[in-house]
Order: sequence, then structure tokens, then C-alpha cells
Amino acid sequence: MSLLLLLLVGTLLNTGHTTHAAPISSPPASQITMDEHALLSFRALITGDPHRVLTSWTAGNGSNANMTGFCSWRGVGCHSRRHPGRVTSLELWSSNLTGTISPFLSNLTFLSTLNISHNSLSGNIPWELGLLPRLLYLDLRHNFLQGMIPGSLARASKLRILQLEYNGLVGNIPANLSNLQELEVLDVGSNQLSGAIPPSLGSLSKLTYLGLYLNNLSVGVPASLGNLSLLVDLFADTNKLSGQIPDSLGRLTKLKSLDLAYNQLSGTIPASLFNISSVATFELSGNSALSGVLPIDIGATLPNLQNMIMNGCQLNGRIPRSIGNASQLRYIQLDDNELEGTVPLEVGSLKDLEVLTLGNNKLEDKWGSDWELMQSLSNCSKLFSLSLDSNNFQDVLPPSIVNLSNTMQNLHLAHNKFHGAISSDIWKLSNLAILSLRE
Ligand SMILES: *[C@@H]1O[C@H](CO)[C@@H](O)[C@H](O)[C@H]1NC(C)=O
Ligand SMILES: *[C@@H]1O[C@H](CO)[C@@H](O)[C@H](O)[C@H]1NC(C)=O
Ligand SMILES: *[C@@H]1O[C@H](CO)[C@@H](O)[C@H](O)[C@H]1NC(C)=O
Ligand SMILES: *[C@@H]1O[C@H](CO)[C@@H](O)[C@H](O)[C@H]1NC(C)=O
Ligand SMILES: *[C@@H]1O[C@H](CO)[C@@H](O)[C@H](O)[C@H]1NC(C)=O
Ligand SMILES: *[C@@H]1O[C@H](CO)[C@@H](O)[C@H](O)[C@H]1NC(C)=O
Ligand SMILES: *[C@@H]1O[C@H](CO)[C@@H](O)[C@H](O)[C@H]1NC(C)=O
Ligand SMILES: *[C@@H]1O[C@H](CO)[C@@H](O)[C@H](O)[C@H]1NC(C)=O
Ligand SMILES: *[C@@H]1O[C@H](CO)[C@@H](O)[C@H](O)[C@H]1NC(C)=O
Ligand SMILES: *[C@@H]1O[C@H](CO)[C@@H](O)[C@H](O)[C@H]1NC(C)=O
Ligand SMILES: *[C@@H]1O[C@H](CO)[C@@H](O)[C@H](O)[C@H]1NC(C)=O
Ligand SMILES: *[C@@H]1O[C@H](CO)[C@@H](O)[C@H](O)[C@H]1NC(C)=O
Repeated sequence: MSLLLLLLVGTLLNTGHTTHAAPISSPPASQITMDEHALLSFRALITGDPHRVLTSWTAGNGSNANMTGFCSWRGVGCHSRRHPGRVTSLELWSSNLTGTISPFLSNLTFLSTLNISHNSLSGNIPWELGLLPRLLYLDLRHNFLQGMIPGSLARASKLRILQLEYNGLVGNIPANLSNLQELEVLDVGSNQLSGAIPPSLGSLSKLTYLGLYLNNLSVGVPASLGNLSLLVDLFADTNKLSGQIPDSLGRLTKLKSLDLAYNQLSGTIPASLFNISSVATFELSGNSALSGVLPIDIGATLPNLQNMIMNGCQLNGRIPRSIGNASQLRYIQLDDNELEGTVPLEVGSLKDLEVLTLGNNKLEDKWGSDWELMQSLSNCSKLFSLSLDSNNFQDVLPPSIVNLSNTMQNLHLAHNKFHGAISSDIWKLSNLAILSLRE
């Protein structure tokens, strides 16, 4: 018996090439019948199929000598070379199916891919899906699934991708999902999950993507997440996470996206985060009790930065001149902070800059006939949104406004101390939709 099991496990992983000779045999008819039965049970719980994707799913359709006609049903794949009649994939995404997910899918013991994303399926995730021993990819995202994430999924120990985002799941994230040591992608975003982020997730050593966004998760960001050394994307925005951001996140040296925006984080932004040179997107907006300064060498330590989205925190100090060296910057959103001093002219050397919003800070500047900052921004040929409102900028309305890129759409200068008239050449900004200049 154990020899047979070993053989079965081996086969799935070696579907492409035969490394050792093993007789190709039809699986016992009972197992085939069980697969067909499981599929028909799945179909039985589908209440709506507007695109008629399941019309081929009829008992006996495509019947052949091996009784494996279901292998040609739409969405069904039987790709195991050694076990030709066994279902290995079920892919019925974007079909607008309604109904619930049958627990009988657990009888498809050779299933490695279950992708029924982007449908309108409701009901619970059957705990029986955790019984699928060969499951590698489970994609149930964008449905209307309810109830809790079954802890039993932790038994499907080969899982590499687990996507449950955009459903109506409630309850906690099961701590024992950390058993899924092969997991590379875990996305449970946009549900109504609550409770803490299990610190045990820090042991998922192959994880590259962790999506926790748009839930009701509370407590803090576990320090253990700093152990996810292959992590590329961490999205935990729009939750109720509180406490300090752990220093350990600075160890995530492969990180490209770090999004902790719209939580209740407090304390100081750990300096270690500004050391993650791989980071392209750094979002901390809307943590109104989070303070910190932008390090003086930020342009050198974050050379790949594209999006610096940190509005609505309590950043203080100056905007460092080195920001001009983070040459890939596209979005700089630092409004609603407590930044002071002048805006360094080096921002004008950011050729890809599209958005610069610095409104509602304590920035200041004074000039003679024209404002050098405005002049320097004329080189940013992709700039479409510029907010400098509610600061302490004072002097004549800079004539060089008219030399801003004609991609400019939103120009907010209100609540400063500008005087003088605006040049009629402003018409050159042909895409301008908003120009606010109120005192
Ligand atoms: C039926 O099974 C045999 C092996 O037993 C295989 O050679 C054959 O291709 C199968 N036929 C179909 C239609 O799947
Ligand atoms: C059998 O399946 C094929 C596609 O595999 C489909 O075109 C056909 O309509 C089905 N026949 C019946 C009777 O369901
Ligand atoms: C699913 O149905 C909705 C309306 O009920 C429709 O807007 C959408 O395009 C459909 N999706 C697909 C993939 O057919
Ligand atoms: C098929 O799956 C159902 C639900 O998980 C289970 O109750 C039943 O025992 C399974 N049948 C077989 C033959 O394994
Ligand atoms: C599921 O199918 C969609 C559409 O083809 C695809 O984008 C997605 O990557 C698939 N999910 C998995 C886990 O393979
Ligand atoms: C995971 O925990 C749940 C309860 O939260 C339990 O039902 C399940 O059996 C556990 N699974 C494993 C593999 O430990
Ligand atoms: C989120 O959690 C809070 C308690 O922390 C609770 O009062 C609230 O109802 C929850 N909201 C949702 C949408 O679950
Ligand atoms: C994971 O991180 C925590 C806190 O940073 C640490 O105490 C623990 O030893 C680490 N565990 C492993 C397995 O590396
Ligand atoms: C940043 O990295 C440098 C060099 O890798 C290291 O010496 C320094 O301690 C780090 N700073 C922080 C705050 O982690
Ligand atoms: C930008 O980088 C250049 C070359 O590496 C360096 O000379 C310059 O001082 C840096 N500018 C700032 C403002 O850090
Ligand atoms: C614009 O860029 C050019 C060429 O890179 C440079 O010579 C010039 O000084 C820049 N102008 C401003 C206003 O920064
Ligand atoms: C606009 O730019 C042109 C070309 O660089 C320059 O000649 C002109 O003086 C600028 N106008 C203003 C008002 O700064």
C-alpha cells in the first residue's frame, strides 16, 4: 500500500519526463467513476451558468473505452501521463457561475489546480478541500464566499498559491496555514477577516506575496514577518493594525512593495525601512500617529523608489535634497504632514515625476521675480498633479508656472501668500482641469 502511494506521488511531479520505468496503467474504474461522480456533484450545486460552460458536463458524454469522457468536459484537465483518466485540473474562471462549491471535489485526489475565480459562487469554502493531497494552486478569488477560512487547508501541504481575495470571508486567519511550507502566494485581501495576523506566517519561508489588505485585522504587524526573506510584495493596507512598525521588516531585502497605509500604526517609522534598496512602492498614508523623518540619504538608499505615498502621517523635518537621486520616482505624495523648510530644487531632476503633492505642511520659501522651484519643475515632462497648497510660500505668483508640462491637470496653490497676476500664457497648460489659487 505504501509503495503504491509513493508511486502515485512520484507520478504527478514527473508528468513531463519519465525518469524510471513504471507501467502505464489505466486507473481502476472505481476511481474514474469517483472522479466523474465528483464533477457531477460539483455541477449539481451550480445554480446558474449564464454562459453555458457546463453544457458538456453530462454523464457519459465523450465516453470512450476507458470511460474517461469527462476529461474532455470544458474546464476539466487530466494531465497526469501515468494516470490518464484522473482529473488534475478544474479551471472555470470568469464564467459567472452561481451556486456553492461541492465538498465532493475532495474526491478528485489527483487535482493539482482548482481555479474557479471570478465567478459568483457563494456559501462556505468546504473544509474538505484541505483533503486534496496534490493541490498546488487554489484560486477562489472574486466570488461571494462566506464563513471562515477552513484551518483544514493547512493539510494541503503542497499548496504553492492560495488566493481567496475579494470574497466575504470572516473570522481569523488560521495560524496553522504556516504548515503550508511550499506557499509562495497567500492572498486573503478584501474580505472581512479580523483578529491578529498570525505571527506563525513568518515561517512561510518561500512566500513572495502576502496580501492582507482591506480587512479588519487588528493588533500589530508581527515582527516575525521580517523572516520572510523572499517576500517581494507585502500589502497590509486598510486594516486596523496598531502599534509600531517592527524594525525587522528592514530585513526584507527582496521587497518591492511595502504597503501599510490606512491603519492605526504609531511610533516612529523604523530607519531600517529606508534601507531596503529594492523597494519601489512605499505606502504609509493615513497612519495619523506615525511620525518620522525622511533620511538625508534617501536617494542613495532607495534608488529604485517609484511611489512614495506617505500623506496623512506625522512626518517632520525637511525633504532631503538626495530625493533627486531616486531617479525613478513617479509619485511623491507627502501632503498632510509636518514637513518644514524649502522644497529642494532637485525634485526638478526627476524626469518621470507625475505627481507631487506637498499640501498642508509647514514648508516655506520666498523668492524675487520668479520661484526657482517652479522653474525646476518645468523639466518634469510627465507631471500632471502638483499640490503646494496650505504651506507658507510667499511672493509673486511665479511666471514660470506657464512652463510646467502641458500634461498638467491639477494645480493646487491655494492658502499660501502669493500675490500678483497670473500670466495669460497659462492657456499653454491645455490639459489643466483644476487651478486653485485661493488665499
Ligand atoms: C485508454 O487507456 C489506454 C491505456 O490503458 C490508452 O493507451 C488509451 O490512449 C486510452 N484511451 C483514451 C481514449 O483515453
Ligand atoms: C459533449 O461534450 C461536447 C464538448 O466536449 C459538447 O460540445 C457536446 O454538446 C456535449 N454533448 C452532450 C450531449 O452534452
Ligand atoms: C457577469 O455578469 C455581469 C452582470 O451580471 C456582467 O456584467 C459581466 O460581464 C459578466 N461576466 C462575464 C465574464 O461574462
Ligand atoms: C467523496 O467526498 C465526500 C465529501 O468529502 C465524502 O463524504 C465521500 O466519502 C467521498 N467518497 C469517496 C469514495 O471517497
Ligand atoms: C486562474 O485563472 C486566471 C485566468 O486565467 C489566471 O489569471 C490565474 O492566474 C489563475 N490562478 C492560478 C492560481 O493559477
Ligand atoms: C488547523 O486548525 C484548525 C482549527 O483552527 C483545525 O480544524 C485544523 O485541523 C488544523 N489543521 C492542521 C493541519 O493542523
Ligand atoms: C471590525 O472590528 C471591530 C472591532 O475591532 C468591530 O467593531 C467591527 O464591527 C468590525 N467591522 C467589520 C466590518 O467586521
Ligand atoms: C523570526 O523572527 C522573530 C522576530 O523577528 C525571531 O524572534 C525568530 O527567531 C525568527 N524565527 C525564525 C525561524 O527565523
Ligand atoms: C542600513 O544598511 C547599512 C549597510 O547595509 C547598515 O550598516 C545600517 O546599519 C543599516 N541601517 C539600518 C537603520 O538598518
Ligand atoms: C546624487 O548622486 C550623485 C552621484 O552619485 C552625487 O554626486 C550627489 O551628491 C547626489 N546628490 C544628492 C543630493 O545626494
Ligand atoms: C532641465 O534639464 C536640462 C537638461 O537636463 C538642464 O540643463 C536644465 O538646467 C534643467 N532646467 C531646470 C530648470 O532644472
Ligand atoms: C519658459 O521656458 C522658455 C524656454 O526654456 C524660456 O525661454 C522662458 O523664459 C520661460 N518662461 C518663463 C515665464 O519662465
